[in-house]
Amino acid sequence: MKKIIELQVNGQTHEVLIKPQQTLLEVLRDSLGLTGAKEGCGLGACGACTVLIDGEAALSCLMLVESAVGKEVVTIEGLAREGELDPLQNSFVEHGAIQCGFCSPGMIMVGRALLAQNPTPTRDQIRIAIAGNLCRCTGYQKIVDAIEAVAEAK
Ligand code: FES
Ligand code: FES
Repeated sequence: MKKIIELQVNGQTHEVLIKPQQTLLEVLRDSLGLTGAKEGCGLGACGACTVLIDGEAALSCLMLVESAVGKEVVTIEGLAREGELDPLQNSFVEHGAIQCGFCSPGMIMVGRALLAQNPTPTRDQIRIAIAGNLCRCTGYQKIVDAIEAVAEAK
């Protein structure tokens, strides 16, 4: 049975009509039009769908949307402030850490969660943080460089 729930996404409250068993990723993309989080595998294996839930990185393809009720969801669309990209977004661009871009929203959200918990991670800690996020283009080094550069800038 369909029902209406209230979701907090990127600082705004949304009332959304949901179907049973809908994932957070489906609702973000199909109901709210927030297509930054990607569906790569839909199985928890690629990290392309990563968003922040109460500040922690989470795989939105594995999460039923109802379990996000009462929590603060942040997607890649929520990182920019007053038209300015987040420093981590800029760093990905500056370091060439974005090629096709499919993995980039998930990588950046994982990087954001890491830097919030540990503002000065080592390269190994960065590698561990992004270990669940697949990138077929960059070879990962530029992604580690981009996250490390923001850590160093703090
Ligand atoms: S789409 Fe969620 S982990 Fe791959
Ligand atoms: S930039 Fe293409 S998958 Fe990472």
